[in-house]
Amino acid sequence: MRALVLAGGSGTRLRPITLAMPKQLIPVGGRPVVFHCLDNIRAAGITEVGIVVGEWEDVIREAVGDGSAFGLRVTYLRQDAPRGLAHAVLIARDFLGDDDFVLYLGDNVLAGGIGELVAEFATVGPDAQLAVGKVSDVSEYGIATLHAERRVTGVQEKPQSSTSDLAVIGVYLFGPRIHEAVRAVDVSARGELEITDAIQWLISTGHDVRGSIYEGYWKDTGNADDLLECNRTLLAPLEPRVDGSVDAASELSGPVLISAGARILGSEIHGPAIVGPGSVVRDSTLGPFTTVGAGCLLEGACLDESIVLDGASVRQVHGVSRLLIGGAYGAPAGSPGAGGLSLVLGDNRVPVAHR
Ligand code: G1P
Repeated sequence: MRALVLAGGSGTRLRPITLAMPKQLIPVGGRPVVFHCLDNIRAAGITEVGIVVGEWEDVIREAVGDGSAFGLRVTYLRQDAPRGLAHAVLIARDFLGDDDFVLYLGDNVLAGGIGELVAEFATVGPDAQLAVGKVSDVSEYGIATLHAERRVTGVQEKPQSSTSDLAVIGVYLFGPRIHEAVRAVDVSARGELEITDAIQWLISTGHDVRGSIYEGYWKDTGNADDLLECNRTLLAPLEPRVDGSVDAASELSGPVLISAGARILGSEIHGPAIVGPGSVVRDSTLGPFTTVGAGCLLEGACLDESIVLDGASVRQVHGVSRLLIGGAYGAPAGSPGAGGLSLVLGDNRVPVAHR
């Protein structure tokens, strides 16, 4: 069995962050989203992985390399533009051959792994098997209708309403019949070749499509709220460890991970929280569920439930909750800071509140 990981999307819902980096490399729980996918694939016993990339190919190649750090062998497949999930399968035809494969959306986190899904697929042997989970807003997802024995009788992409509340959650298992299906479908109203249409084609032509209700935590991290919520969930079981330095004027409480080379000076950090390698946190208060990446500088910052991306600097910004930040930010001297705000900030942009 092989895996096909999709990391070619442009992440428009996460702008301006995604003007500077691919969404699949935004860290949740202190690790890039797509690394969680690769870990799960390896843990399920799969080692041959194709990663579909777009304009961020170089950056993703640099982060993931040849896959050996994950125990994988990675092949990169270039998609000229985000033309849909079925299009990604189409361009991966040679890589996939006639092997069974798991299609894994590179911005989806399945905290309980995919081992059981893969084992079930191997036992039952359907043409397709979809991991599904309950959602409250069907209009944001592909929605599957399931009947007895978990047979899928229909799938619809982002319907206005549906009798089912089971979303297709970003991990699909396919046998080789899917290649015929992706060739059979037309471009959708949103201009993409939809995997949902290809699956519906399989159903309509009498193939065996199954659904497996995913019992673990799942999140599509395509927007800031979901990313921050996912970060919260993944940080909860954090083990405390101090590899960097913490001065006598600083206080750590709860599970806090201070990485090698990080320096905490005159600051309070309330876990679960992570400070990445080489970062400096001075005269700051970091609240629970905050992660600071590598090489950051925080001075006079008071944040909680936030993700500070690698290399960001945050100065004199107070009382901010739920911040997703890259680049360099500071409140002008004498200003009260960004009290009470929730912000998504990208590289080298000045937040509106500070103009
Ligand atoms: C895609 C799929 C959708 C699926 C969702 C899961 O949507 O088209 O069927 O339910 O991923 O994350 P997108 O995130 O591209 O809008």
